[in-house]
Amino acid sequence: MSKKENWIAPSILSADFAQLGKDVKDVIASGADVVHFDVMDNHYVPNLTIGPLVCESLKNFMDKEGVKAPIDVHLMVKPVDRIIPDFASAGADYITFHPEASEHVDRSLQLIQAEGCKAGLVFNPATSLNYLEHVMDKIDMILIMSVNPGFGGQAFIPQALEKLKAVRQMIDASGRDIRLEIDGGVKVENIAEVAAAGCDTFVSGSGIFGKANAADANRYDTVIQQMREELAKA
Ligand code: DX5
Ligand code: ZN
Repeated sequence: MSKKENWIAPSILSADFAQLGKDVKDVIASGADVVHFDVMDNHYVPNLTIGPLVCESLKNFMDKEGVKAPIDVHLMVKPVDRIIPDFASAGADYITFHPEASEHVDRSLQLIQAEGCKAGLVFNPATSLNYLEHVMDKIDMILIMSVNPGFGGQAFIPQALEKLKAVRQMIDASGRDIRLEIDGGVKVENIAEVAAAGCDTFVSGSGIFGKANAADANRYDTVIQQMREELAKA
């Protein structure tokens, strides 16, 4: 399977949580493709964010307002299985988790797919890709972390580019329909080299929400347009 259409996935970790629905509506109206929903538990990662209740409220708001975009739930929690059905019921389209956070990676992947969602594994900067070896048939997305998980606004770790290239080869060799996502420190300035390494799904938090260009609903259109122009060069 060759590279898929590029998706820009704003991380709502950098949105204003007091007006989350509006921020999501505006960033999608500005041309973004996916809502990246970061779930942290102050156990697997040293930070605490949002859970299924917020996902459900956001999903209901999006439906009511006609905002059409998949919700990409990035679980940074341990364990993962207990919470998977809750996110599926709350409207998640993709659910990804870190293999170190599950005792039974294959079971967790199966559980996500049985709940009707797309499933994915997330690889920290120091995590080996070996986890992929026996589960490629149960994977819809592979997420490469280009920062250590837990916080927005960190610097991109360049070794992630080599990892992306390796995963791109694995996906192509498998012939499977799998998205390759990057998360952490992605901005207009580096998105082209990330794309050149084989990525097709680009999470960006501070790189998008920190760049509003106006007060209106399309206030993120400049930064998203700039990202698209960079992607066109790659
Ligand atoms: C970090 C999260 C990221 C984070 C990215 O653990 O998984 O999604 O929000 O933020 P930026 O793009 O600011 O690095
Ligand atoms: Zn994330």
